[in-house]
Amino acid sequence: MSMHVVRLLQGRNQSGTNDILSALACCPMSEHPWWQTTVIYQIYPRSFQDTTGNGIGDLPGITSRLDYLADTLGVGAIWISPFYPSPMADFGYDVSDYTDVHPMFGTLSDFDDLLVAAHRRGLEVIVDWVPNHSSDEHPWFVESRSSRDNPKRDWYVWRDPKPDGSLPNNWLSSFGGPAWEYDDTTGQYYLHSFLAKQPDLNWRNPEVQGAMFDGIRFWLDRGVDGFRIDVAHLIMKDPELRDNPPAPEGWQNRFKSHGEYDSWLHVHDKGHPDIHQVFRDFRALLDSYQPERYSVGEIHIAEWDAWATYYGEDLDELHMPYNFSLVHTPWKADEVAARVDELEAALPAGAWPNYVLGNHDETRLATRFGEQQARVAAMLLLTLRGTPTVYYGDEIGIPQTDIPPEQQQDPWGRNLPGAGRDGCRTPMQWDRSPLAGFSPAGTTATWLPLTADSQDRNVAVQLDDPASLLSLYRALLGYRKSSRALEVGDYRRLETPDGVYAYERNHNGSRVVVALSFTETPSRCDLGRAGKVTLSTIPGRTGEEVAGTVELRPSEGVIIELD
Ligand code: NOJ
Repeated sequence: MSMHVVRLLQGRNQSGTNDILSALACCPMSEHPWWQTTVIYQIYPRSFQDTTGNGIGDLPGITSRLDYLADTLGVGAIWISPFYPSPMADFGYDVSDYTDVHPMFGTLSDFDDLLVAAHRRGLEVIVDWVPNHSSDEHPWFVESRSSRDNPKRDWYVWRDPKPDGSLPNNWLSSFGGPAWEYDDTTGQYYLHSFLAKQPDLNWRNPEVQGAMFDGIRFWLDRGVDGFRIDVAHLIMKDPELRDNPPAPEGWQNRFKSHGEYDSWLHVHDKGHPDIHQVFRDFRALLDSYQPERYSVGEIHIAEWDAWATYYGEDLDELHMPYNFSLVHTPWKADEVAARVDELEAALPAGAWPNYVLGNHDETRLATRFGEQQARVAAMLLLTLRGTPTVYYGDEIGIPQTDIPPEQQQDPWGRNLPGAGRDGCRTPMQWDRSPLAGFSPAGTTATWLPLTADSQDRNVAVQLDDPASLLSLYRALLGYRKSSRALEVGDYRRLETPDGVYAYERNHNGSRVVVALSFTETPSRCDLGRAGKVTLSTIPGRTGEEVAGTVELRPSEGVIIELD
């Protein structure tokens, strides 16, 4: 039964009987749970909509844009990056209270309003959970660092210096420098995989698991639909904290470059097998709630087999580990196709795939791929088999923005020049008003500058233009919703000429082909059957009949319904 219907029947929504009947009428019974058929939209709350005029987005701002998300755009779920109390050393990924809202973003009651308003529109709400580390200002850490015999000492990872006074081991922080910070008060080092202001929690201590799971229950009881788990594979390390071995010469991290951090193989500072029991427990907790709750882990593991273990041997861990393979794949037809085939081959039986092309840590996709290929990328993301996540602003092609050094905010960028992530976190661009509708009239400045083209590149302008990127996203989202072949159908790659990637999606005999050109030359793609173009990334072809082959213009993607 659809999640929306279950929620109505359970009375988590104040609607009346008519709503229930109309929901039943519109939502057929499905063997696929909501998180498999939905499209997730990631909101970076600082940058979505400011309602107070401080230049920073907030929860009421998100609530005020739900109509856009549910109806205008047509996504099915939102994931909101952290909005919890935090000193904001890493913009919320340094949590000082897991069960409240930072006053800058609003109140718990604002969150509840958001949840009710989202559910009323049929939108699921996924919140971020940051289990690997807290803020150093979290009361747990304040206690932990106060003395060696404090009851919370072992809630974090403390170690003596080596006999020669040096660091406990060779682990590095992925934000630069050693992963150990010396604490004068107690004469020991504590571990931090990220900033020194983000001490790692000790998940080998059952009290930590208990307290963190209480935090999860707090949000489940409020009615959230799922969790995105920050650096999920980091929470269990080698119990002996052994040194990481050096990376072999020429070894390259397939993901974002981390400078010196990439000189080591990170075999001991993350991903210890004991992690799987934690996620089995976590899943059991989620599964004790109805309607079904969901989890997706941020897991940067390049080896497919290791990545796939996070589904759990009996699919009893995470519903999905995030699949970032396309984010750093060279944008070429054969490379992209190879990643998709690898993923399909790596999936455990019954596991569900997912795709991501951008997020708050990565260079904006419009800049990585360019204007035309950003349209091809949209078609790819929204037609592959698996749950897509769309990063806010990608639907209007917000480009990566150069932030002048004096305006840079991201601590990673300040530690490691070039690694800063501010450029993909600029405010959402809504309309032609001053500050592009992100902040109310009279606001003097936004926390990061808007892009230079914000007066021309915004939701209002693109809604008026049937050829805009936003119009393409809307069409793709609408089409996906109407096509079981795209939502849940099988995937089969087709033979193509160089520079083209094509695949068929098939559900109970209803077949849809997606053909994507990654080149600047025209190409022709064999379909083997006749059909009709239902959507193109270059407008004007809908309804065109194709008899066995389809001609693709440079950088064009088309969807064809086969006869
Ligand atoms: C991954 C998050 O996506 C990133 O933004 C954050 O800085 C680190 N984890 C540390 O929490």
